[in-house]
Amino acid sequence: MRLKLILLVLFLINLNDSAIAIKCFQCDSNIDLECSEYFDPDMTSLQSKSCDNVFEARFCIKTTGMFGGVIGTIRNCSSRDLGDRCSYLKRPGDQRYVRSCVYTCSSDDCNHAQKINHSLPLSMITLIIFITSIFYL
Ligand SMILES: *[C@@H]1O[C@H](CO)[C@@H](O)[C@H](O)[C@H]1NC(C)=O
Ligand SMILES: *[C@@H]1O[C@H](CO)[C@@H](O)[C@H](O)[C@H]1NC(C)=O
Repeated sequence: MRLKLILLVLFLINLNDSAIAIKCFQCDSNIDLECSEYFDPDMTSLQSKSCDNVFEARFCIKTTGMFGGVIGTIRNCSSRDLGDRCSYLKRPGDQRYVRSCVYTCSSDDCNHAQKINHSLPLSMITLIIFITSIFYL
């Protein structure tokens, strides 16, 4: 019983922890050339910033191609999980289709690379442990 209490407290702490704003790279390749699709997070002068500008940001996103009418690579914060997907879009007057992709991830600074690793937030993991413990302890 005491163990359950400890787990509950741990869970609440984690929950609280995840309410702190996530940090993401926030840049636009149209403004900053370094914000290209690929960059080495150890080599770049770009710095990730706390997502204070986006309400309830819980995800980092990276979009490439033509997304939301803007061509280029954009990294930003998001309150919604936009998933990982690509589509081919053609602007009026264009001959070619532009490959447009969006990547979403949920850990600090995770939106630098091409492939984004999905990591379960810590509070999720604790929640799973907690629920499991209710049944088995
Ligand atoms: C990120 O999103 C916020 C809110 O929509 C916007 O104000 C900001 O300009 C965006 N940053 C970049 C680099 O696109
Ligand atoms: C994703 O995870 C793999 C293996 O855990 C690692 O080698 C790779 O560098 C990670 N990629 C990113 C973008 O963090």
